[in-house]
Amino acid sequence: MCGIIGVLGEHQAAPLMVEALKRLEYRGYDSAGIATVHEGRLDRRRAVGKLVNLQDLLVDSPLAGRAGIGHTRWATHGAPTVSNAHPHAAGPVAVVHNGIIENFRELRAELSALGVNFESETDTETVAQLVAHHLRQGKSPAEAAQATFGRLEGAFALALLFDGEEDLLIAARLGSPLAVGHGEGEMFVGSDAIALAPLTDRVTYLDEGDWAVVTRAGVQVYDKTNAPVERPVKRIAIDAARIEKGGHRHFMAKEIAEQPTVLGEMLGHYLDASGDIHFPDALPDFGTVDRLVMVACGTAFYACQTAKYWFEQLAGLPVEIDIASEFRYRQPPIGANTAALFVSQSGETADTLAALRHCKGRASHILSVVNVPESSIARESDLALPIRAGVEVGVASTKAFTCQLGVLALLAVRAAEARGRLDAAGVAEKIGMLRSVPGLMNLTLGLEPEIERLAGGLAEARDILFLGRGPMYPLALEGALKLKEISYIHAEGYASGELKHGPIALIDQAVPVIVFAPTDGLFDKTVSNMQEVMARHGQVLLITDKAGAARAAEGTWETLVMPTCDPLFAPIVYALPAQLLAYYTALAKGTDVDQPRNLAKSVTVE
Ligand code: F6R
Repeated sequence: MCGIIGVLGEHQAAPLMVEALKRLEYRGYDSAGIATVHEGRLDRRRAVGKLVNLQDLLVDSPLAGRAGIGHTRWATHGAPTVSNAHPHAAGPVAVVHNGIIENFRELRAELSALGVNFESETDTETVAQLVAHHLRQGKSPAEAAQATFGRLEGAFALALLFDGEEDLLIAARLGSPLAVGHGEGEMFVGSDAIALAPLTDRVTYLDEGDWAVVTRAGVQVYDKTNAPVERPVKRIAIDAARIEKGGHRHFMAKEIAEQPTVLGEMLGHYLDASGDIHFPDALPDFGTVDRLVMVACGTAFYACQTAKYWFEQLAGLPVEIDIASEFRYRQPPIGANTAALFVSQSGETADTLAALRHCKGRASHILSVVNVPESSIARESDLALPIRAGVEVGVASTKAFTCQLGVLALLAVRAAEARGRLDAAGVAEKIGMLRSVPGLMNLTLGLEPEIERLAGGLAEARDILFLGRGPMYPLALEGALKLKEISYIHAEGYASGELKHGPIALIDQAVPVIVFAPTDGLFDKTVSNMQEVMARHGQVLLITDKAGAARAAEGTWETLVMPTCDPLFAPIVYALPAQLLAYYTALAKGTDVDQPRNLAKSVTVE
């Protein structure tokens, strides 16, 4: 959410910053802007809408200078207009910001009373005005920044650039991630490693409450008490190919196609050749845990909801799941023998992080399943298990979802073993099933032309329902989320058996109903619910296997025949048609698949 780049370079900063903002655009794309210092003078360019508009502006009105800051915005306070776009400037300072300054109204009132005029509606301008106020009092840039940071409440990653200072950036983080990149005679600041990857592979992650004075000679970090501290320089390994589209039309298409590979690699990481699962020693002994609490947001929550079936059915372990924004405020009691598990692609989702902090000191173990190993959620966990999906750029989560499911499935098998529910043969059988999933995904990708054709029949719908039972119910929710977020068609997921308790009133011949129904123990019940829909002229798209199609395809609008897979882990395979239907429906509608309206990847505000 909002991307930040800062450059103290040897060459012109603007082209480097525009390239970095392209890599960061998935974090927000309401407006973008850059500021530089050239010949001692601070100047900036800002444009509403996609980054390309800023690029066009820079063609007409270039910005010279080797020092600069840049920003791509996901609007929180104030509409996406030029005056609300970052960088915000006040006299001799320019500021870019990710997060929310919660006490900005008080600060703004204080400054207004001193005669300060504001030109935007943003919380961020308050930061710039407060720094400028301290500079007017005779403070140095570092003193003014320090005095300002001490007044800010909320969440922020900030980068500050000063008039007359071509070798100085000041950065700060509280609640929102920020990293400092070390080059050869150059230094960088970025909101994540993706921003910095082509510039340098040496990165210092700022800790909570840290702020930093960056010059070309290096960085001095201060902690929240303003004491100088050393933070380690880490080598990052982001394969540049993983942040390119690799010949695909969209990142989402590439990330869908990558799933058999990344899931197979993830399984290879946690399993040895004989099928033994290798988790770090810090993993709790599930044999002694009484309860597992799983918390996440959005797609990651649906991964938790799916895994609840696995933990309960395989391991007999009671599981409670909740969405993070609800969990943290209902203050749930956490028993001493309760392990808490947080699932997050970005590892930075503000609500999930806050829920994790609520469980600290209460739960017996804090575990996380994350895609970004250096993320805040990973760092604040007792143990973080990476899903190893590689960088996910498409705003709609795809490969992270299936890799989250893969890691959670391994954990459920381990828990079943530890609780004496599965013997060695049982574990080997489940691992064998999991190992077959990448191959089944490959077969499913072979159905892409058929799914594209089916999506053509969905694009005109106003409402679409998704149905599933058991572990297919969370997939129905995920299918509906995927479709609505990128095609803007209203979609809802329901447990098949729940339909007759109200939602069936929505059914008529204009409402496509997508039913996930592999042949499992619940198949006949799901088919009965499907018949209830068809009896009311609902247009059913049945997604099932060969046996299911033979038994229930008659009378459906369409049937998609999936490869036959064991029902237990079928949600991982059936996620692909859900994703592809959403993708091709969005293409048919002409929406912006990778950057859907109003959304941003990595939601670092509450
Ligand atoms: C939907 C989607 C979101 C995220 C949610 C949590 O496609 O991507 O619903 O799953 O914002 O994000 P993370 O996993 O980064 O915590």
